[in-house]
Amino acid sequence: MGEPRRGGVRRYRFTEGPAALALRIPEVLDSQYGMYVWPCAVVLAQYLWVHRSSLLGKRVLEIGAGVSLPGVVAAKCGAEVTLSDSEELPQCLRNCRRSCLANQLPHIPVLGLTWGRVSPELLALAPIDIILGSDVFFDPKDFEDILTTIYFLLEKNPHAQFWTTYQVRSADWSIEALLCKWKLKSIHVPLRSFGADKEHLGSSSLPGRHTIEMMIISLARSDGT
Ligand SMILES: C[S@@+](CC[C@H](N)C(=O)[O-])C[C@H]1O[C@@H](n2cnc3c(N)ncnc32)[C@H](O)[C@@H]1O
Repeated sequence: MGEPRRGGVRRYRFTEGPAALALRIPEVLDSQYGMYVWPCAVVLAQYLWVHRSSLLGKRVLEIGAGVSLPGVVAAKCGAEVTLSDSEELPQCLRNCRRSCLANQLPHIPVLGLTWGRVSPELLALAPIDIILGSDVFFDPKDFEDILTTIYFLLEKNPHAQFWTTYQVRSADWSIEALLCKWKLKSIHVPLRSFGADKEHLGSSSLPGRHTIEMMIISLARSDGT
């Protein structure tokens, strides 16, 4: 999954013409996944920044948020954000809260949501317009659990979309069969279309030469389209 990183605070700056957004994301010296920003998060954050005018007032849930760069960007762009990570990983939930505090967002709710588990927290969620997931498709054993949760949320919110970035780490990576099984469809979003086909993004060199893709997943209609 890449080399361990140092703790500390990483700074990000997204710009477009005269508009700019500066953020601080604290990281933790630990090899666990949800302790620092992954390259996919910078790409998803860039997508949110470029589409910021459509985020105002949108109800956004980030799953597997870790240190929550995309969720923090969405909140700064005017979305009503809820952050979540596994209920079994309290340190990751603490990281979500630390990132909010570091960016003067003390009121963002943080929930324990474990993929594939229909918990009271999942059942009690308020309506959602957009679900965010950055680098959540990293271990094929979790793919079905993730899509179970996504399907549950999209069934309750049929207009909603799942905006997700993933890193291609193996040639046989595929969720096509699972999307079909769960009656979901995906649209591939070229990185070039939102200026993310670069090694440096948001003042960060994290994207580097990693192969990162973005897709938007939604419910397939009953006729399969
Ligand atoms: C590769 S990290 C990505 C973190 C963050 N989204 C990013 O891109 O910087 C995967 C994240 O998924 C979370 N996670 C792992 N298993 C999970 C599960 N079963 N349910 C919910 N979250 C999980 C981890 O705690 C971690 O935050």
